[in-house]
Amino acid sequence: MVREISKDSVEKFLSTYFPQYKITNDPFERYLGYFDNELLGIIAYSVIYERAEINYIFVRSEYRKKSIGSALLNKTVEKSKEAGLDNISLEVEINNIAAINLYKKFGFEEVSRREKYYNGVDGILMVRKLGD
Ligand SMILES: CC(C)(COP(=O)(O)OP(=O)(O)OC[C@H]1O[C@@H](n2cnc3c(N)ncnc32)[C@H](O)[C@@H]1OP(=O)(O)O)[C@@H](O)C(=O)NCCC(=O)NCCS
Repeated sequence: MVREISKDSVEKFLSTYFPQYKITNDPFERYLGYFDNELLGIIAYSVIYERAEINYIFVRSEYRKKSIGSALLNKTVEKSKEAGLDNISLEVEINNIAAINLYKKFGFEEVSRREKYYNGVDGILMVRKLGD
């Protein structure tokens, strides 16, 4: 089940399972969590005018490839449509094949590249249009 979760839950989840990743200090960030008794994955996104921006998505490594990332992304798309947003955007590291495939599966398209965006690694800007 996917539902909204607090920033505190996200901080706890990241420090336990992804200690190398620190939560950003974005007051507009919203969080969804995937639960099956316990929290197995999270997604964070910000809404900026008519656009949602996905900041990060993490699924615990032993629970990957079980459609949890898809469920989180699906709910984000659903909520963004309900809110009447125009599109969803995100930046992804060019080497992150799992994430790129996941986003493509949900209709995200590459719109541009950002050279050396991630410590020397290129980033891809992807957008999924909403509406109609
Ligand atoms: C990216 C991530 C969130 C995917 O979550 P997931 O729950 O495993 O994804 P799903 O099971 O819903 O997979 C959906 C689709 O994503 C793609 N995908 C997922 N894992 C993949 C892999 N290891 N290799 C290639 N494609 C992959 C596939 O297209 C898959 O569809 P399919 O099952 O029909 O082949 C997960 O791998 C993760 O947490 N990675 C580490 C954190 C990260 O890099 N986040 C993104 C940047 S912040």
